[in-house]
Amino acid sequence: MCGVVGVAGNDNATEILVHGLEKLQYRGYDSAGVFIDSEKGPDFLVKTTGSIADLRKKIGPEVQGTSGIGHTRWATHGGVTIENAHPQFSDDERFFLVHNGVIENFQQLKNDYLQGVKFHSQTDTEVVVQLIDKFSKEGMSTKDAFNKTISLLKNSSYAFILMDKKEPNTLYVAKNKSPLLIGLGDDCNVVCSDSIAMLDVTHTFMEIQDGDVVIVKPDSVVVIDADNNVVEREQFEVDVDPSDSEKGVYPYYMLKEIDEQPNVMRKLSKKYLDENGTPVIDEKLLDVMKNSDRIYIVGAGTSYHAGLVGKKQLETLTGIPTEVHVASEFAYEKPIFSKKPFFLFLSQSGETADSRQVLVNVNKDHYPSLTITNVANSTLSRESDFTLLLDAGPEISVASTKAYTAQIALEAILAKALGEHLGDQRAQDFDLKAQLSLVAQGMQTIVDEKDKIDEISQDYFVNATQAFYIGRGIDYTVSLEAALKLKEISYVHSEGFASGELKHGTIALIEDGTPVIGIITQGFTAGLTRSNLMETAARGAKTLTIVRKSLAQDDDTFVIPDVDELLTPLLSVIPAQLLAYYTSLNKGLNVDLPRNLAKSVTVE
Ligand code: F6R
Repeated sequence: MCGVVGVAGNDNATEILVHGLEKLQYRGYDSAGVFIDSEKGPDFLVKTTGSIADLRKKIGPEVQGTSGIGHTRWATHGGVTIENAHPQFSDDERFFLVHNGVIENFQQLKNDYLQGVKFHSQTDTEVVVQLIDKFSKEGMSTKDAFNKTISLLKNSSYAFILMDKKEPNTLYVAKNKSPLLIGLGDDCNVVCSDSIAMLDVTHTFMEIQDGDVVIVKPDSVVVIDADNNVVEREQFEVDVDPSDSEKGVYPYYMLKEIDEQPNVMRKLSKKYLDENGTPVIDEKLLDVMKNSDRIYIVGAGTSYHAGLVGKKQLETLTGIPTEVHVASEFAYEKPIFSKKPFFLFLSQSGETADSRQVLVNVNKDHYPSLTITNVANSTLSRESDFTLLLDAGPEISVASTKAYTAQIALEAILAKALGEHLGDQRAQDFDLKAQLSLVAQGMQTIVDEKDKIDEISQDYFVNATQAFYIGRGIDYTVSLEAALKLKEISYVHSEGFASGELKHGTIALIEDGTPVIGIITQGFTAGLTRSNLMETAARGAKTLTIVRKSLAQDDDTFVIPDVDELLTPLLSVIPAQLLAYYTSLNKGLNVDLPRNLAKSVTVE
């Protein structure tokens, strides 16, 4: 994982880098660092464990220059220490390198080439910078030493930015599998893992490809492809307002993003459904999907959970059998495919390495694919045949909220479009436009109930050591997502369970006061889930419920408005998101940056 930034030729280099790292913090926040240099004047290396706020505090006013590189780390090789923070540097402190990715054969390279060299860290990255230094000492130019080192990396992923103190205004850049963009400014050029980091400098970016090496100077960008040819790469404009990624009046991004969900529903409805409610989806995509005999949905974490809802929607509205797979398993344990498979990738970031690895395999076999993502021009979007954008606005908080609901709404639109294409009556009758409008209103009423949710969090969750969400069918899939939200930001051990399955073992964990929340939105299983809740209450559980209005009883905890059964996850998840938020907040934790995590998981 990790995020990298670089700037060539701007007097404000320090601030550009630190601001860029703040924006990339979602990619990891174990430690951070910058190296800053200029043609005249001293150079500076500042590193810290902890977040970018800690780095900012450590950077004194004297730390100024015209070029530099920066890094925010999610530890892979080596613990969270200053030594392991990037930039990593060569023994003679001439070369400085930041890296996002993993060098799989670093130990072998160390043994083969770097016997006797003094190492400062336990990172795989240091091997790379020490190799560059070694080849340079043997007489190679920096460019050749960089190329030679890259040629030795096996099965590795990397986004590198290298600086050589002897050429302070030049950045040497290379990429394989990890995302990296070049930003083209008016009087300087920049490099970043995600355009969001550099929107204050430029909105024009250049896509570089795996195997490219790029030499970035203040007034030029030269791209050399894997066959050693100088090539032009496509430029694109990023149409995002930098203020979209500001917290504004909110204490945490997560709360802002939860509150944005009604609006995201309205935007999706406006973009993908015309005035009559007819889906506006590329006919070519629908033709390809129509010809498939099975849909394979692939995702990780929350996106996988959104896929579980999508399966239900697609099977109900199109009749095409649909499977959902965890990306990290699917890449290496692939099921037996049907004759005409179609692959649907769900990824907020569009960069998740586990999902990307599946796509690489799918492309090798020439199977058709679609990516549903929040990030235009992301790797998964570029490498699949079709893309549908969530347009949910930047999701910064590590815990995904609005991307989950946006994915479910867009899957419903896709299912309706495909169902109509296939002549399915249920799809034609499904008034999705009206339903999404009800969903948006319903979401608004739930997000307005914050005080009640805060109170419940304090009464039952802040001191809990464990909690369970239970449900059946589509409610079970939401219970998985609800439990993930709670555990990842409040550290309360929580599990989502198929409610009927609890009694087959897990009910042994129920103790006096264990919170068990039943999600009940489907008429034909409501009674069964209520019985399962009673079974836990009989063993001391404190039971709570999230129930659809038409199924509600007087003592239900959260009553959510009635919407079509294919869309209830869009509402039933909201109290769970807020409960997770308040539990984390009430425990005094950093809601947006939970321990051990990163938002964009770009290592397998
Ligand atoms: C949890 C969460 C993660 C992501 C997962 C996949 O709140 O955000 O589980 O859903 O890492 O990320 P994307 O959707 O970017 O592929």
